[in-house]
Amino acid sequence: MGHNMRDFALEVHFSQWEFKARYNMAASDLQSLTLGELLHMATPEDRANFERSSLGYTETWGSPSLRSEIAKTYENLSAEQILCFCGAQEGIYVAMRALLDEGDHAIVVVPNYQSAETIPLSICAVTGVSLDSEHHWHLDIEKLAAAIRPNTKLISINFPNNPTGHIIPPASFEAIVALCRQHDLWLFSDEVYRLIERDPHTRLAQAADVYEKGISLNVMSKAYGLPGLRIGWLACQDRSMLIRFERYKHYLSICNAAPSEHLACMALKAREAILQRNRGIVENNIGVLDAFFAEFSELFDWHVPDGGCIGFIRYNGADGVESFTRRLVEEAGVLLLPASVYRSDLDDVPNHFFRIGFGRSFVPEGIQAMREWLKAQAGRAPR
Ligand SMILES: Cc1ncc(COP(=O)(O)O)c(C=O)c1O
Repeated sequence: MGHNMRDFALEVHFSQWEFKARYNMAASDLQSLTLGELLHMATPEDRANFERSSLGYTETWGSPSLRSEIAKTYENLSAEQILCFCGAQEGIYVAMRALLDEGDHAIVVVPNYQSAETIPLSICAVTGVSLDSEHHWHLDIEKLAAAIRPNTKLISINFPNNPTGHIIPPASFEAIVALCRQHDLWLFSDEVYRLIERDPHTRLAQAADVYEKGISLNVMSKAYGLPGLRIGWLACQDRSMLIRFERYKHYLSICNAAPSEHLACMALKAREAILQRNRGIVENNIGVLDAFFAEFSELFDWHVPDGGCIGFIRYNGADGVESFTRRLVEEAGVLLLPASVYRSDLDDVPNHFFRIGFGRSFVPEGIQAMREWLKAQAGRAPR
């Protein structure tokens, strides 16, 4: 089987619009800090170390101090069970390539962040299990169980989910771990939107903490709002599997950038302050979205997503979501992601939804621009 992968639709869409649109209302990350703001949060000693740091190669695994800060974000893991990558994306790529072979089968939740399905699909057979758009994106564990085949090697999940923000109940998460244990499957759990749940009681356990074949993916990009650092990681109890991943990284980024490692360490040490700031931004923006969607309740079906800072919203306009989002970005400079970006090769993704992001501080202005554009449309409508 070849290694061909179809274009990453989201990245292609972003490459056209991300830095051109006035309001990127599709962003999946929290409002970034500036370098100065982050340095200001660090201790004088860490700031001095940062300035003294060498710009040479670093350890492929990630610096010992960074890995030990990352390990503190887990209940039961040590620094040896963490392997750093260039963002979360490289972690997905490496895990799938190192874990899956041609004769294997993988199960992936739909809709998804496209690499979750495109990378395994370039290697082996993949079954999609869809979240139910009619029932608040409910995941049917029976459907997941029914998809397991004798050659299934891996189940890949992502909660809070991209794009819906859905979080499965803890009992469902436990049922998935039990299924994996029963069938001796790897559980790949993309946890990049963890820590920004609406209700902290809905926060799920991390797969690597609770399951011996659990692989947890996380990154500085989302909850911490620092995607430019390009520091992500895989966590796993099984050291021999991490060693396989590390060997694969030698063919990709080789190692992370030293300045980024230092900055990620500083951010993890200041994590409570950063998370509090970021949760405040999200909470404020949700208030703004609540008011906006109440005003246009016939046009949109809005339910506050369980977690993360993106939602997948139904658009009820007769023009359809593709035309709506295209005109909105061209005429009002407001970027959303239409359903076509989330097309899946595994199952139908309903075509009247769009993704909106609410992690950035300019969201109130973006919503105001949307409101004005929609009002102007209504004024122009034939009577
Ligand atoms: C679910 C999910 N996983 C992984 C990634 C990749 O993260 P990064 O850009 O930090 O590599 C993203 C980014 O949007 C994501 O939404």
